[in-house]
Amino acid sequence: MTKKIAILPGDGIGQEIVAEAVKVLEVLRDDFGLSIEMEDGLVGGAAYDATGTPLPEATLALAKAADAVLLGAVGGYKWESLPIAVRPEKGLLGLRAELGLFANLRPAILYPQLASASTLKPEVVSGLDIMIVRELTGGIYFGQPRGIRVLENGERQGYNTLVYKESEVSRIGKVAFDIAMKRNKRVCSVDKANVLECTEMWREVMIEEAKAYPEIQLSHMYVDNASMQLVRAPKQFDVMVTTNMFGDILSDCAAMLTGSIGMLPSASLDANSKGMYEPIHGSAPDIAGKDLANPLATILSVAMMLRYTLDAPEMAERIEAAVNKVLDEGVRTGDIWTEGCTKVGTAGMGDAVVAAMRA
Ligand code: IPM
Ligand code: MG
Repeated sequence: MTKKIAILPGDGIGQEIVAEAVKVLEVLRDDFGLSIEMEDGLVGGAAYDATGTPLPEATLALAKAADAVLLGAVGGYKWESLPIAVRPEKGLLGLRAELGLFANLRPAILYPQLASASTLKPEVVSGLDIMIVRELTGGIYFGQPRGIRVLENGERQGYNTLVYKESEVSRIGKVAFDIAMKRNKRVCSVDKANVLECTEMWREVMIEEAKAYPEIQLSHMYVDNASMQLVRAPKQFDVMVTTNMFGDILSDCAAMLTGSIGMLPSASLDANSKGMYEPIHGSAPDIAGKDLANPLATILSVAMMLRYTLDAPEMAERIEAAVNKVLDEGVRTGDIWTEGCTKVGTAGMGDAVVAAMRA
């Protein structure tokens, strides 16, 4: 059966990197028999400019009807002074919420070829393979009440609410434990249980949920320590599971262990493995339109789509093998370039991956 993929490039470098990922999908369709249909939609600042909202009804309908969504990035200087309710980021958050994509998988894998591109010593990062499981539709990102109010003395006060229901914690815990069962069976739950009641409960629910997984070795870490451990000795981690905001922060940190934030893909899944796939990096308006961005995180997000939603693991492997080959050949975008390698632009990298897939 033909699968429908909604293509939402968004803003900034989103346009360029998604174009390269689409080339990869086209090769799978045209040369390898992947049965897909692609349809473009507007999201983020681009959607705001065209329609006055960062998540138009048509885009939401397209995403809901699709089997999978490929997203680039949203946001940019141009929209920074807009009220939060119509900021480009709301388009992305709205998609996550409306599609029920509560489980965000962010694998931080170091390609051995890039060991010297990391700012950390090669021996600290070589062989790195961490899966960060980030809760994506709850926590402080969505908690009510929220806003900016004026106090009696005329001073303004900004406020947000960190909330989790037990069921939200147990379902993300289950995702993390299931993933760990296919890996090294170790899960580190990251919280701030020494200060925040919400995450005190988070920890209790994790412990309870883990009882159904006797083989899993569950540990707990406060988020401040976890951020330190990620740069001190990252290989101690197998699967990390954490809240929406902590996961946002820790995944950027983990990305740099791999050499560049331009290397990290992600999958955001609902309860039925329908997913939205996007690089973890942002729209990088400073380099947008200059053919400088690294498209590999987006291309590797397509591999995750093939594995988690489209049930075509052999096609995912084809992409990953092609990326490996291109890196072996020394082809690099600027962010991962080191002495002696060949520097290419966004399109050059996409073309190299496509050529390797066909070879
Ligand atoms: C991410 C991004 C988003 C987030 C922004 C763009 C809303 O930083 O996917 O990590 O905070 O979740
Ligand atoms: Mg982020």
